[in-house]
Amino acid sequence: MMDLNVEFLGYRLRSPLIAASGPPTMDWRISKALADAGIGAIITKTILMEPSVNPRPCLYHGGSFFLNTERCSTKPTQEWLDSELPAMAELGIPIIASIGMTPEDAEQLAGPVVAAGANGVELSIFTPVDDPAPMQEAIRRVRAQVDVPILCKLSCNVSDVVAFARAFQEAGADGVSAIDALKAAVVLNPRTGEPAMREQGFARMSGSALLPVALYHVSQVAHYTGLSIVGTGGVSDGQDVIDMISCGAGAVGICSQLIVEGPEAVERIHREVQKAAEKLNAEVLTMLSGRSLDYIDFTSDDEERQEYEKRAWRSQDLTAKVDSETCIRCGRCETICLYHAIAHSDSGDYRVSSAVCEGCGLCLSSCPVGAIGWSKGEQTA
Ligand SMILES: Cc1cc2nc3c(=O)[nH]c(=O)nc-3n(C[C@H](O)[C@H](O)[C@H](O)COP(=O)(O)O)c2cc1C
Repeated sequence: MMDLNVEFLGYRLRSPLIAASGPPTMDWRISKALADAGIGAIITKTILMEPSVNPRPCLYHGGSFFLNTERCSTKPTQEWLDSELPAMAELGIPIIASIGMTPEDAEQLAGPVVAAGANGVELSIFTPVDDPAPMQEAIRRVRAQVDVPILCKLSCNVSDVVAFARAFQEAGADGVSAIDALKAAVVLNPRTGEPAMREQGFARMSGSALLPVALYHVSQVAHYTGLSIVGTGGVSDGQDVIDMISCGAGAVGICSQLIVEGPEAVERIHREVQKAAEKLNAEVLTMLSGRSLDYIDFTSDDEERQEYEKRAWRSQDLTAKVDSETCIRCGRCETICLYHAIAHSDSGDYRVSSAVCEGCGLCLSSCPVGAIGWSKGEQTA
């Protein structure tokens, strides 16, 4: 079986999977269960100078997504310093203390959390969506206090994620955890029409549905900054871990899935990563690092936008093609095709009419067994 070890921020992690800041990392006992299951590192629930109070309710599990209005740690700072962090430090894996929410508070907390056993800090700083300055100030203040790696939590709600990541890098951050939960989402009670999250009616969203958004942000930060990235957001299985690494993450954060599945998720995901990597003939995970970045278009200014239009023209001869060996004849492609380009013959085989196919790709993403691929320039009826 493939070795899951990775080098990240100067730590030798036995797994790239890191428990992201959240409820599972607020208690050393749960952190111990995660460590026993093989997790690579722990990022604690965000520690403040004063404990938070959570509204009730504050959590909602919606299957493919998760909502929360949870605040930061509800544990007193002294408890973190006296017992939680020292107990976590015994677990034999890197412990990164998440601290916030102002630059001044982070400055005051950094020294004590490191003295209590943290091997690194993650800054969770209240930052306006268009101004990275408070995070930059926090980085500089914390850097003056401690000599451990500094990660910054990056929100996908900021006006320009690359500008923010660059600003963090300039201020001396060693890496980012990207991304935080998305703001905001609403779920309703179908009977009363009341929002499930009663405090404001809306909440932050995380969980599987967030993965594509997170992959975009991770790839942008990786391409433009080269910072170390804990790719976080929507990770629930081994393929998601591989995808994060393919988009440039050096380690992979997980929170919502740990809440809903518990520490058992760790071993399952490790098995899935090993299986997926084996299929890709990757002997070590680093062989997959950033492999998807070459396929992502990083041109952004107006001039190059014209190139973008030209590229659409260049792919005009692509049409879908069904591989009858792999096809299980479920008929999903025929049903979903918006152009009626796919039909089954008397023998039950599915065929694509390239004259009718618009090459939209919907059938490829809907096929349950990956039996549909691309055909270039071949003409069929
Ligand atoms: C219930 C809950 C509480 C969270 N608390 C924190 C927190 O205290 N500090 C923080 O930086 N991120 C916090 N997060 C955000 C997660 O660390 C993570 O960035 C986000 O949930 C996306 O990852 P996921 O889809 O794996 O959950 C929290 C997430 C959830 C779901």
